[in-house]
Amino acid sequence: MMQILQDARVFREACAAARQGGRRVALVPTMGALHEGHLTLAREARRHAGFVATTVFVNPTQFGPGEDLARYPRDLEGDAEKLRGAGVDALFAPPVEAMYPEGEQTRVRVGALAEPLCGAFRPGHFEGVATVVTKLLALTGPCTALFGRKDYQQLQVIRRVVQDLWLPVEVLGVPTVREADGLAMSSRNRYLTPDERGRALALVRGLRAAAALFDAGERRAGRLREAALEQVQQGASSIDYVSVAHPRQLTVLDGDTPVGEVALVAIAARVGTTRLIDNLVLGEDTLEAP
Ligand code: PAJ
Repeated sequence: MMQILQDARVFREACAAARQGGRRVALVPTMGALHEGHLTLAREARRHAGFVATTVFVNPTQFGPGEDLARYPRDLEGDAEKLRGAGVDALFAPPVEAMYPEGEQTRVRVGALAEPLCGAFRPGHFEGVATVVTKLLALTGPCTALFGRKDYQQLQVIRRVVQDLWLPVEVLGVPTVREADGLAMSSRNRYLTPDERGRALALVRGLRAAAALFDAGERRAGRLREAALEQVQQGASSIDYVSVAHPRQLTVLDGDTPVGEVALVAIAARVGTTRLIDNLVLGEDTLEAP
């Protein structure tokens, strides 16, 4: 039986009881509107823990003015059904006041890692993410917390928070789950019209083009970037960035600067009005279906 909890204290007690009963606890934080990517995280969590907690919380502090907070897809009933199927033990779906009660005034802010790529286009976004994830880790007390590599910068930011604050949790990054044609799964894909759904493939085509060039031996950051950009331009309505960056520090590389044996290609672009992101770590990830 999966417990569905709204109250932070009750959720904290359920996790504590599981720990006291000798079970390892794993946490999978989400914003809901769940798809196969999220469920892969939940099933992977099952392999690491006897008690899997998933959170569904559309976190207002990580949305900027003019972003899609108000219209972010919400489907708690459907989400609960999917999580039951994935063998999740507890679903924590708090109201905003439970995570941000009156009088709260603490934020977690990460430095340079949160500045490039999405950080440059979504001011305050990673502060909101780091804050809510820290709160969720504190409530849950998991041995393991799982995040998708789809949100690559987010994963690195969270790893940094956990290291810097000595949080006693192991962070696992799970490979991006894709549709059969390569589109990275995202809750925001449901905003796409059929025409936009086709054009959205420009992102993964960009990643493939950079990967092909990298595999052929190209190491100049600018060339890898241009190969990706050329593809993205063919489908995107507007582009926030197509960047090649250091895979850990996320510093952006360009021109003739050689990338190392491992390099991040990261893309954020709008198709219609929907903002999509995708990335690939050249020399580490593959785009083939597992
Ligand atoms: P959300 O976008 O719902 O994603 C929840 C988790 O699922 C994140 O770790 C994300 O990287 C992962 N995920 C999403 N799409 C994926 C895919 N196609 N393949 C693999 N993993 C995927 O990311 C957030 O929510 C929020 O920022 C959150 C961490 C919950 C903090 O509010």
